[in-house]
Amino acid sequence: MKLLVTGGAGFIGSNYIRYAREQHPDYKIICVDLLTYAGNMENIAEFTSDKEHFAFYRCDIANKEEIENVFSKENPDIVINFAAESHVDRSLENPSLFLRTNILGTQVLMDACLKHNVKRFHQISTDEVYGDLPLDRPNLKFTEENKIKTSSPYSASKASADLLVSAYHRTFKLPATISRCSNNYGPYHFPEKLIPLVISRAVSDEKIPVYGKGENVRDWIYVEDHCSAIDKIIHIGEVGNVYNVGGNSEKRNIDVVKEIIKQLGKSEDLITFVKDRPGHDLRYAIDSTKIQKELGWKPMTSFEVGIEKTIKWYLANEPWWKNIISGEYQQYYQKMYANREI
Ligand code: NAD
Ligand code: DAU
Repeated sequence: MKLLVTGGAGFIGSNYIRYAREQHPDYKIICVDLLTYAGNMENIAEFTSDKEHFAFYRCDIANKEEIENVFSKENPDIVINFAAESHVDRSLENPSLFLRTNILGTQVLMDACLKHNVKRFHQISTDEVYGDLPLDRPNLKFTEENKIKTSSPYSASKASADLLVSAYHRTFKLPATISRCSNNYGPYHFPEKLIPLVISRAVSDEKIPVYGKGENVRDWIYVEDHCSAIDKIIHIGEVGNVYNVGGNSEKRNIDVVKEIIKQLGKSEDLITFVKDRPGHDLRYAIDSTKIQKELGWKPMTSFEVGIEKTIKWYLANEPWWKNIISGEYQQYYQKMYANREI
C-alpha cells in the first residue's frame, strides 16, 4: 500500500506519519511538503533513511507539474491532504496565500487523484468551517449537518476546499472523505499556536498574550487521537462522507493558560491581556457521535493527561522549539503582538 501524505513535515502530518509507521509498517509513505515556515524536516527526520518505506518530495500542492511528477513516479493508493496554511491570525494578514494553497492546492491534488485512479482521497478539514457557537448554550455542538458559516479567510478557504471535495465526489466520482477536527495539541506543534506559545513563553518567563478576556472556548484533542480517527476513516470510512472528530475537552483559553503556568510552576503575572483577534470565534464544540457509532473511534487521551505529556515533550525538546523561535519567527512575533496590550 502506498500512502501519500501532503503537509507531512508540519504538526499533524508528521504526527500522522509517526502513527501510520507504527500501525502499518509495511506501507510506503510518500511525504509531499513545500517546507514553508511551518514545515520542518526535523519533524520527520527519523523516517528519511528507510528508502523502501519512505520518500520525501519538496513541492507545492498548488503546482500541477510538480504534483503530476510525484504521482506518476509513486502511483499512490491513498492520498491524505494535510497541507495548508493553518494559522487564523496569518490569514488576516495575507488571505490570498490561504486561498491559493488551501483551495487551489486541493483542486490540483484531486485532479491528480482522478488521473491516477487513486483509491481514496482524504481531506483534512476543520471544525472552523461551522463558524462558532454561543458561550451561553453549552448543549449546542457542531454535527456534520451544521451549516457552513465561516469567520476568517482561513476558515473560508478550508470550507471552500470542502465544497470542492464534495463536488468532485458527486460529479467526477472521486472516492473522497472529509474529516473536521477540533483544536489539536501535542508534540511538534508550531509555537505560534496557543498551547505551544504559552509553554515556550512561560518556560522563558516571557509575557503570555491572551486575546480579549480569554473567555473563548476550544474543544482540545490530543493529536494522536486525531491521527487514529484519520486512520480509521481512510480504511473503513464510507466515501462521500464527512466525519466530525473532537476531543470532548472544552476549555476556556484562560483556563488552559493557567493550567500550563501551574504545571510549569510559573507566575500568573505573566498573563497579559491583549487586543482581541478580529472576528474571533467564541466557542467550538464537536459532536463526534457519527464516527464513534459508525467507525468505532473515540478519543483516548483526556486533556489532563495530554497536556502533561505535551509539556513534558516541550521541556525535553527545547532545542526543537528554540531553533524555531530564534529565527524569522522573532519578526512575526513583533509584527503580530507589538502595541497590542490592553
Ligand atoms: P501546520 O501549519 O503545522 O503544517 C502545514 C504543513 O503544510 C507544513 O509542513 C507546510 O510546510 C505544508 N504546506 C503549506 N503550504 C504548502 C503547499 N503549498 N504545498 C505543500 N505543502 C505545504 O498545520 P497543522 O496544524 O499540522 O494542520 C494540518 C492540517 O490540519 C491543515 O489542513 C489544517 O487546516 C488542519 N487542521 C488543523 C487543526 C489544528 O488544530 N492544528 C485542527 C483541525 C484541522
Ligand atoms: O479548531 C481547529 C483549528 O484550531 C484549526 O483549524 C487551526 O488550523 C488551528 O490553528 C486552530 O485554530 P485556533 O484559532 O482555534 O487556534 P490558535 O492556537 O491560534 O488559538 C486558540 C485560541 O487561543 C483562540 O481562541 C485564540 C487564542 N489565542 C491564540 C494566540 C495565538 C490567544 O489568546 N493568544 C494567542 O497568542
